[in-house]
Amino acid sequence: MSPTSAPTASPRRATSDLALSGGTPVSKTPIPFMSTALTPADIDAATAVLKSGMLRAAKKCDELETRFAAISGAKHMMTCANGTCALQLAYEPLFQPGDEILVPAWSYIATVSMIVARGCTPVFVDALPDTFQIDMKDAAKKVTPKTRGIAATHLYGCPVDIDAVQALAQKHNLKVVYDAAQSHLATYKGKGIGAFGDAVTYSFYATKNLGTGEGGSISCNDDALAKSIKLLRSHGETDKYLHEHIGFNYRMNDITGAIGCSRLDRLPDQTKARQKNAAKYDAIIDGIDGLTPPTTTPGAEAVYHLYVVKMDTKKFTCTRDEFCKALMAEGVPSAVHYPRPLPKQPALAKWNKNDCPVSDTLSTQVFALPMHHDLTDDHFRILEEALNKVAAAYRA
Ligand SMILES: Cc1ncc(COP(=O)(O)O)c(C=O)c1O
Repeated sequence: MSPTSAPTASPRRATSDLALSGGTPVSKTPIPFMSTALTPADIDAATAVLKSGMLRAAKKCDELETRFAAISGAKHMMTCANGTCALQLAYEPLFQPGDEILVPAWSYIATVSMIVARGCTPVFVDALPDTFQIDMKDAAKKVTPKTRGIAATHLYGCPVDIDAVQALAQKHNLKVVYDAAQSHLATYKGKGIGAFGDAVTYSFYATKNLGTGEGGSISCNDDALAKSIKLLRSHGETDKYLHEHIGFNYRMNDITGAIGCSRLDRLPDQTKARQKNAAKYDAIIDGIDGLTPPTTTPGAEAVYHLYVVKMDTKKFTCTRDEFCKALMAEGVPSAVHYPRPLPKQPALAKWNKNDCPVSDTLSTQVFALPMHHDLTDDHFRILEEALNKVAAAYRA
């Protein structure tokens, strides 16, 4: 948020002006919410693998691992089938059944469901109301003699307070896994996020900043852990048909690897574009009373997988969902990440202690606006006009 600008209550406008009520929309063509199209280079890279006939994980997965490790500040990178498998591959060697693991109440379900799949007990930690990241003061209060680990998500592209996570981990001898499914190339205190914690997991799902369709990876800096993860990834096979451990088949394939390498060529520039676009959004949102731009963790450089705005519903006559519906009619799509905090998910209700009030409130307040590297000045003109128009029409 820019420290200089003060939000202004835009003059009230009639709700009948809204496109939702039959008024003229700011834009007849909706702004693209994301930009995921393949380029000819991506298609050529995939085609070369198809022509080679080498479809399994081979040279292209190796190349993706080497390059993505280097750019993320990690020693080892292991590609795998998707971000959920990445979490399983990281949790299995680090956490044991029965362990209590501190987990975010405010994240995508996989961060926590794979803790449950490991036989561990998730202990929900609330979110901070400004960065939306895990609240480490709340985490510290929830440590018990059974706590063995922390699973923290770098949510929306913004790193958590890594110093606070690592300090708590050190104090209680806890293992730390960071879920960076939404945070490729994010940095903390000048270092790639791969430099911190026991393991970091990524998703390469089609809509992620580095999207290959399906795909994922795990990074770590410990040689023995990297070896364990590689074995788990491929049936514990140490030699041809010699299986020393029970494992899975969570391997990637070289078509996916080739698309990943090709997209990685563009990711640094696309990340810079996202950051510039976030600054443009901040200036717009700062000027609208009742909407707050996302705050970044001190020391962190966010990569804005999502640009998530918080709405003070007391300042409007509508709900967040009604606000988003009106925006859509003006040509501005949005999305809610997430409509329910994790403790309120039926699948996780067993571990809900109703002690994460900030996450409960966020689920009624936040919405994500279009964010990607292809947003233009014209898109921002539409965004600004539509946001101001809807805010003015619903001004309390
Ligand atoms: C924070 C987070 N963790 C894990 C995942 C799971 O990744 P995947 O869909 O590749 O299994 C996602 C995907 O949306 C995510 O956003």
